[in-house]
Amino acid sequence: MTTLIIGANSEIAKGIAISVNQTNERLIIISRNIEFYNDNIFKNIKIIETSSYNENHREAAVKELNVDELSRVFICHGLLHDDTSYPEKKLSEFDPTSFLNILNANTLTPLLWLKHITTQMNHKNECKFVFLSARVGSISDNKLGGWYSYRSSKAALNMLLKSAAIELKRTFKNVKLIAFHPGTTDSPLSKPFQKNVPKGKLFTRDFVADALIDITNKTQIDGELSFIDWQGEKIDW
Ligand SMILES: NC(=O)c1ccc[n+]([C@@H]2O[C@H](COP(=O)([O-])OP(=O)(O)OC[C@H]3O[C@@H](n4cnc5c(N)ncnc54)[C@H](OP(=O)(O)O)[C@@H]3O)[C@@H](O)[C@H]2O)c1
Repeated sequence: MTTLIIGANSEIAKGIAISVNQTNERLIIISRNIEFYNDNIFKNIKIIETSSYNENHREAAVKELNVDELSRVFICHGLLHDDTSYPEKKLSEFDPTSFLNILNANTLTPLLWLKHITTQMNHKNECKFVFLSARVGSISDNKLGGWYSYRSSKAALNMLLKSAAIELKRTFKNVKLIAFHPGTTDSPLSKPFQKNVPKGKLFTRDFVADALIDITNKTQIDGELSFIDWQGEKIDW
């Protein structure tokens, strides 16, 4: 069993890496920042450092993989705020440059990893791809509005994955796609929004990682895209 974690410097990704590394399974990580993985506990893993997530670097990273050995792929990119953008409360705050930046990180980048990996992959290979999505990407769950860019980037990711699942079902009988909502997890991404989280509902990366690995292992390969949360419960689109 070989696990690949992409965007491995994400807090949730680190939790997944720690958990997988405690088993005998092979672990490969791809990240722009590999500092966390310089620790001696990770001495047996394969590390692919990339200076950016642009198309050339992505293709170069995939070439370093033997994609047919992959049994689980966790794609952990996510951008909610940075130095230049913050989730919109009002339409007047919507900025096209920030929107495209968020769309690039949350939607395009994960899909292109799937494209490049499956393009190289043997059609018989058995592999589960898990994408870190978010409940706020659910259109039916949107009761509060706001967060225009982040919400729509995750809704668009889910739609792209839905189309990919339909296509892959025809040719890759043993591939499964999962869009996962981790719940509010203590990380740089959620940091500015943690004060209103109810007691006991701010999860550690390790708690979420263990739940995600367990759910991934239990999820059947059925040719469908599953949109599920940290309890393994289905989320409405
Ligand atoms: N934390 C939460 O409460 C929460 C809730 C719901 C959903 N999620 C989702 O869970 C996933 C992981 O979140 P996290 O909390 O672990 O976040 P995090 O610690 O802030 O990590 C963010 C990740 O996104 C990558 N990233 C940042 N900017 C990027 C860009 N411009 N292009 C491509 N990748 C970029 C980072 O890559 P580098 O390390 O290479 O910079 C890193 O892997 C995200 O998809 C997030 O939307 C999180």
